[in-house]
Amino acid sequence: MPSRLIFAALMPRDVVTRARQDFDAVVADGKDDMTPAEVIEAANAHRAEALLFTNTLPLTAEAIAQLPDSVRVGATSSVGYDHIDVAAAKARGIMVTNTPGVLTECTADFAFMMLLAAARRAYEYDKVMRAGWRYRIGQGDLLGVRVTGKTLGILGMGRIGRAVAQRARGFDMTVLYHSRNRLPAELEQDARYFASFDDMLPHCDFLSLHAPAGPATDKIINAAALAKLKRGAVLVNVSRGGLVDEDALFDALTSGQLFAAGLDVFRSEPDFDLRFAALDNVIMSPHIGSGSVETRNAMGFRALDNIAAVLAGREAIDPLW
Ligand code: DGY
Repeated sequence: MPSRLIFAALMPRDVVTRARQDFDAVVADGKDDMTPAEVIEAANAHRAEALLFTNTLPLTAEAIAQLPDSVRVGATSSVGYDHIDVAAAKARGIMVTNTPGVLTECTADFAFMMLLAAARRAYEYDKVMRAGWRYRIGQGDLLGVRVTGKTLGILGMGRIGRAVAQRARGFDMTVLYHSRNRLPAELEQDARYFASFDDMLPHCDFLSLHAPAGPATDKIINAAALAKLKRGAVLVNVSRGGLVDEDALFDALTSGQLFAAGLDVFRSEPDFDLRFAALDNVIMSPHIGSGSVETRNAMGFRALDNIAAVLAGREAIDPLW
């Protein structure tokens, strides 16, 4: 008898197909990801053994307490897991897993796309073209800032931060980074470590955020941090919106302290702060940094592999506790 799985997120078709093949899957109905109340209801109604979800499901201690004791594993199809109360899951003996590794390259590609697009005003050029163009653009009009040879600061030098650094090297950029711990030389390569984030900021032409959300990073990009950047710097955030004080970011974008920003994530999603939609020097996307066919399939399959391992009594591949 296949194990009961609540498939709480809208996932690529191939992932849904495999979930239906391997499990007795109760699948989100195609309109939206399930809410916590829907997951709790479905898990209890079906005596589910596993949950598959993504960062849209806040798996809080309160939600975990309402799950039936049949649930043995919850797999998020995401590398970030700030939406899960891991301690509460552990206390109930529910293994929780994420999907590190499989999304590194596509997320780094996306961060670099945002960096280039913000620096070179891709959004504004596209807007000019869609409005019909048909006027002379002078040699001094609508100029972006050069990327090649500039200095990139990276906050968080995990897998994705390092993959962004690798791309930056292809643009002859000087790479600086701050993370809790200095990397060993083979991972650091030629990047320069700053033990103090504040000390790194004045050197940065570009700043790309790749740290997890949590109390240690909440609003780490605030008015004081933004003021320390070089005037005219470019900010890229494809990690979590919680890292940024959005009032301070808005001020920096409208005062000229920042030349531009590339934002894939917001403090509130999907109901993001619409002030940013009115700014031409912001290029935005709807939290979709890892969103290639290959990567989203790999993430979903990895989540299913984690579930299968735990339900078969093996170690999870990506345990969070
Ligand atoms: C991740 O993997 O954490 C992405 O942000 C998708 O949630």
